Amino acid sequence: MAKQSDSWGSRIGLILAMAGNAVGLGNFLRFPVQAIQNGGGSFIIPYLVCFILMGIPLLFTEWSIGRFGGKKGNHSTPYILDSMSKRNWWKYIGVFGIFTNVAVVAYYTYIESWTFIYVIHTVIGTFTQMTQAEVSEFFVQYVNLNGSNFGIPYLPVLVYILVLGINIYILSTGLGGIEKVAKIGMPLLILFGAVLAFKGWTMGAANASAAFPDANAWDGINFLWTPQYGSLFDPKVWLAAAGQIFFTLSVGMGSIQCYASYLKENEDIALNSLTSGFTNELVEIVLGSAIVIPIAAGFLGLDWIIENAGFGMAFQTMPYLFVQWGEIFGAIAGICWFGLLFFAGITSSLAMGTPWMGFMEDEFGWGKVKGALSFGVLALIMGLPTILFYQYGYFDEYDYWAGTVSLVVFALLEMILFTWVFGMENGWTELNRGADIRIPIGYKWIMKYITPVLLLLVLLSALITPEGNNWSAAFASITTGEGWTLDPSSLISKLTHDDLKLLRFSDPENGEFYDKKILFSTLARIQMLVLFMFIAVLVWYSGIKRKSISHE
Ligand code: PHE
Repeated sequence: MAKQSDSWGSRIGLILAMAGNAVGLGNFLRFPVQAIQNGGGSFIIPYLVCFILMGIPLLFTEWSIGRFGGKKGNHSTPYILDSMSKRNWWKYIGVFGIFTNVAVVAYYTYIESWTFIYVIHTVIGTFTQMTQAEVSEFFVQYVNLNGSNFGIPYLPVLVYILVLGINIYILSTGLGGIEKVAKIGMPLLILFGAVLAFKGWTMGAANASAAFPDANAWDGINFLWTPQYGSLFDPKVWLAAAGQIFFTLSVGMGSIQCYASYLKENEDIALNSLTSGFTNELVEIVLGSAIVIPIAAGFLGLDWIIENAGFGMAFQTMPYLFVQWGEIFGAIAGICWFGLLFFAGITSSLAMGTPWMGFMEDEFGWGKVKGALSFGVLALIMGLPTILFYQYGYFDEYDYWAGTVSLVVFALLEMILFTWVFGMENGWTELNRGADIRIPIGYKWIMKYITPVLLLLVLLSALITPEGNNWSAAFASITTGEGWTLDPSSLISKLTHDDLKLLRFSDPENGEFYDKKILFSTLARIQMLVLFMFIAVLVWYSGIKRKSISHE
């Protein structure tokens, strides 16, 4: 049914595209915030352990099943998984591998559009005369965060559509276009990152001010790199570390499998997967940690960062700080920062377009243009509400369900499929076919036993996250017979919508606003469910089609 279509142009193109897929906003925005919120030096050890015991095995698995499925003409997870087992329901598990991409791209592209417009604002000097409060307020206004009205934020919608349009255009040119963007974007991103990281490492206390006399960039660096063993047994830190590894490596999504399905039958996957995985880690650990944290610490001090760590730092704080470096270098730094974010973002959002396109091409014969356009329409339908109702938490719901929970669920299932259903012996042979390196045999054992158990643990602990994310208190209260109180952020509370009920009572003075939040959180969940069902129906229909063709 499916013809052997595209394939990657060159090895370097493949690695850059895969690294571009992984290196994203997660490396520069999510990683520093996670590290700070989880105690700096105490985050790094669990993080590295998760990389070795979950990240690498999942990369091996996803590259292997992708290439395996591609050999049989399948380029998206429903039929990639289907080709690995005799049972016919695995293709519905594969729905995750299209669903997450469409749901995540919807809000991911929104952030990408902020980076785009911030490059332009830096170039035209919008921030040069602003106070810190004004720069911060600028962002609030832009995304309509104060939520004072239902007014449509026209400009953000317009910029979003523009950036989505750029993505659609590149996607419509196929793998060649993606490869080209990665070849330009990745080196530029590293160059921009190096300029900023150099500054981060060398500024020291030079930018301390009367308001922040103790500010010192080194405090930020030391906070991250002084190992701390105290919280090694805190599940909260481990969960955060595992979540970051998933997001940053793009595993559990379906996009790596899709990229890998365009490999040739005997092309190396062992070395290629490690190279792109380590490139991502290098960028994350070396560059991702050397920009926002040291620079903000150099101006505002470590205490400020620990208190204010969050998404806003990148957009609400950095533009103001850059301006303090003078007109010329300030502008250069701003362009480097938002330019780097833009390239990091677009090489990832492109990856999210490919599973849908691959599926529609394989099953319904849709060409690249039709595939890319339809992907754009879906992304827009999913994305518009996140923009219009950003302040009511629409965005956050997507990030939680599609960007976090789905990844773990899907990763666990595909890992079981690969190592237990397909079988670790077959899997190992598949992984090593054409390999340019010898993978330590211990990985066979890790992949079969350790990784699935760890994934299960991550999922279980997300299910039953105790009140306040305080595990030691929860275990203590079990032994005293007081039982286990769930946190509203636990998966169980979310599944039963208990977390929403809480919103109603959290701010009595502003009841109306929170009622809206409940409404929009529910709508966001329904919308994601509809998307999932929609894709599942397409998979079901394609199954009927396949059968009728094979009977002819
Ligand atoms: N890994 C990307 C990042 O760090 C996010 C991503 C997830 C990209 C899944 C593609 C698929 O931002």
